Amino acid sequence: MIFNKVRIKRLHFCLVYLVTLQVIVLVGQRWSLRSQDKRVHNRTTAYQKNESDGLLSAQVSSFNLKFTPYRKIMKIMDYNPRPGNHFRFNFQGCEYDRCAQTSDPSEANLLMINGALLKNVSVPKRPTGQIWLMYTREPLTDKRFLELKRPSLRGQFNWTRTYFNDSTFVSFYGGLRARVPPDKNYDKIYQNKQFDVAWFVSHCNTSSRREDFVRRMASKVNVHIFGKCGNYSCGAKGYDMGGSKDACLNMLSRDYKFYLSFENSFCREYLSEKFFNLFPDTDVIPVVRGGANYTKMLPSGFYINSKDFRSPEHLGNYLHELARDRDKYLTMLKTKTRYEKYQPNDNLSCTLCKAVHTQTPQHSYEDVYTWLTRPDNCWPPDDLG
Ligand SMILES: *[C@@H]1O[C@H](CO)[C@@H](O)[C@H](O)[C@H]1NC(C)=O
Ligand SMILES: *[C@@H]1O[C@H](CO)[C@@H](O)[C@H](O)[C@H]1NC(C)=O
Ligand SMILES: *[C@@H]1O[C@H](CO)[C@@H](O)[C@H](O)[C@H]1NC(C)=O
Ligand SMILES: *[C@@H]1O[C@H](CO)[C@@H](O)[C@H](O)[C@H]1NC(C)=O
Ligand SMILES: *[C@@H]1O[C@H](CO)[C@@H](O)[C@H](O)[C@H]1NC(C)=O
Ligand SMILES: *[C@@H]1O[C@H](CO)[C@@H](O)[C@H](O)[C@H]1NC(C)=O
Ligand SMILES: *[C@@H]1O[C@H](CO)[C@@H](O)[C@H](O)[C@H]1NC(C)=O
Ligand SMILES: *[C@@H]1O[C@H](CO)[C@@H](O)[C@H](O)[C@H]1NC(C)=O
Ligand SMILES: *[C@@H]1O[C@H](CO)[C@@H](O)[C@H](O)[C@H]1NC(C)=O
Repeated sequence: MIFNKVRIKRLHFCLVYLVTLQVIVLVGQRWSLRSQDKRVHNRTTAYQKNESDGLLSAQVSSFNLKFTPYRKIMKIMDYNPRPGNHFRFNFQGCEYDRCAQTSDPSEANLLMINGALLKNVSVPKRPTGQIWLMYTREPLTDKRFLELKRPSLRGQFNWTRTYFNDSTFVSFYGGLRARVPPDKNYDKIYQNKQFDVAWFVSHCNTSSRREDFVRRMASKVNVHIFGKCGNYSCGAKGYDMGGSKDACLNMLSRDYKFYLSFENSFCREYLSEKFFNLFPDTDVIPVVRGGANYTKMLPSGFYINSKDFRSPEHLGNYLHELARDRDKYLTMLKTKTRYEKYQPNDNLSCTLCKAVHTQTPQHSYEDVYTWLTRPDNCWPPDDLG
């Protein structure tokens, strides 16, 4: 075979190009690893040289032997017995990105345990150095949490992730932020609304006794109850609340003036998706009842808090009147459209990867059940007389 000059030149060029590229990549990797290492320079336990960590490690260490030890990949496991319900982590782009998800608890550096799903589930013994995190977003009235009292779990948990503001990591269902409101024909919106109050509900018997509250309120204003606790239905569960494209939410937006975002228990900082699902564009005024400090967590002017009324009947009367006061009602609705939902959580993948690499905070809960169920975390209703 005969190569002509041009071909050889091209080949040569390609080789030079490839080698240059490789060098740039290696230098880049070294730089980024080194800057990561700087952040944890005094935490030598957080990284160990591991030859079998792969090609990258071999390349980088042979490139420059003075290079600081290669930081190992930290493994995180969501120990969640419900198949298909695991957190799906993505560490790309994180400040600390050398983490991986695992399904083998024995090799995990961080084991996350869903505190509400321990019934009939055995938890493996904690290897030395493994960090345990208990997480939940459920209200605490649930008997399932009693499983956290197991003697084998005492003194085992390092971190928590709940909606309580003193958790290691706080998880929110959502937050509201200002947006440019879309143009809407509010006269038409008001005219189309034929009913007063709607409530989508699936738990009929709750510790907040919202069912008793609604029953009393309904003596003063017309309430339509959707789902298995009432006589109305739309969608698969008797209602649906899956998002803005949802037919039930569209019906709610078109036909109703108020929606009851009543929590199933009074717990501090507990403001669930029942509220945030109404954003951005479900045109109803939310009526809230729960243990969160709504004034602190939300902007004002577009929702009604049951706490501001002397009794369920007083709230019912107020809603009945407001439904018929077109101007006042629409002022509130216009205020509501100025906000949209967003997810205020830190990026869980990035937060946990950093925490497990830096091993911070250093902490251990003596008894996580007692911490979780402190009497001032949740309380019984005091508005039913
Ligand atoms: C690492 O350094 C920071 C800042 O100098 C210090 O606050 C921290 O306690 C150190 N950690 C350890 C484990 O020495
Ligand atoms: C090194 O990595 C391999 C494969 O990921 C693992 O089996 C081994 O336990 C690791 N060794 C150390 C010291 O981390
Ligand atoms: C944050 O998390 C999401 C999903 O868990 C992921 O897709 C995203 O890349 C993460 N990283 C950053 C830096 O935002
Ligand atoms: C736990 O096991 C018992 C007995 O096998 C069973 O009746 C119960 O439904 C199980 N509970 C859960 C939550 O899986
Ligand atoms: C948590 O919220 C309570 C009540 O609003 C407040 O008193 C407390 O200072 C907060 N704690 C933290 C750690 O933010
Ligand atoms: C509601 O709870 C009460 C007392 O806990 C119980 O007697 C009643 O049967 C429950 N009702 C339903 C529908 O579950
Ligand atoms: C549903 O309809 C029945 C029959 O009209 C009535 O007795 C019952 O009180 C209604 N239930 C609710 C929750 O409104
Ligand atoms: C709720 O938060 C507001 C604003 O931060 C504060 O003024 C008020 O005292 C809080 N209310 C309660 C009951 O803690
Ligand atoms: C986690 O808890 C264990 C047991 O209490 C403790 O030995 C370990 O130092 C803790 N780790 C961290 C990172 O707090």
